[in-house]
Amino acid sequence: MKKRYLIGNLKMNILSVEDTEQYLSVFRREMKGKKQESTVTVIAPPFPYLERFHKELPENAALGAQDVFWEKEGSYTGEVSYPMLKDIGTEYVIVGHSERRQYGRETDEDVARKVQALLKGNLRPVICTGETEDERRRGETAAVLEAQLRGALEDLSPMQAEKILIAYEPRWAIGTDRTPESEDILEAKVIIYRMVAAAYGAAVAERIPILYGGSVKASLLDRVCFSAQMDGVLVGRESLFPYEVAKMADIIENYQAPERREGKPEEG
Ligand code: 13P
Repeated sequence: MKKRYLIGNLKMNILSVEDTEQYLSVFRREMKGKKQESTVTVIAPPFPYLERFHKELPENAALGAQDVFWEKEGSYTGEVSYPMLKDIGTEYVIVGHSERRQYGRETDEDVARKVQALLKGNLRPVICTGETEDERRRGETAAVLEAQLRGALEDLSPMQAEKILIAYEPRWAIGTDRTPESEDILEAKVIIYRMVAAAYGAAVAERIPILYGGSVKASLLDRVCFSAQMDGVLVGRESLFPYEVAKMADIIENYQAPERREGKPEEG
């Protein structure tokens, strides 16, 4: 069965060890005994708290990071490399988030290099893509997603390609409490799916989880995840509430599709 992913991106929040401990203690309590057979729950805290999260995350949750540098080691002041992340138990790494593109001037080429580095280190990249509101209005969504993903999807072996996750995060839906219609999200999924299928074939494309991100909360899961046939969600603000993460993990785990499809978006 294809798994669904729930990834909490804590961004630059949680400002102390004390807050970290508090988050983890509530999260452990809320996740206790939860069956997670078809759901993978990942928390991506800020770098300084990764190790503490690794030590204290419940067994039914995995560790993510919010960025990585593409070189393994050397004179790169301020950067963090994939062996370091791997060494402290990180499994998933977000790359190309629109906030990093905006404030860190991350380019599509940087994202591609980071994906290569992560795969070399046996870490799973969560590649973010998404259009601005103006781009959407001008009908450029498909072109933007293709341009952002092209480099990252190049030069991978089919086995490497199967390790990636892709998150569709329309920029105008991040932090705004506005979300696209289910059909628009599914349309973006189809664009991404076709791109991957063109490069690596349908069998590989079907194994790559395509998530939605942008103002996700528990009450919207039906609209942004299930009805849109997405393979999970990337959550910002709501993931700062550990009990909300646990609630979403429950909803996702217990969701029964009216007619279960194996994640393949409808053609059309
Ligand atoms: P919000 O859920 O706060 O809109 O953030 C989404 C996001 O950027 C997740 O990576």
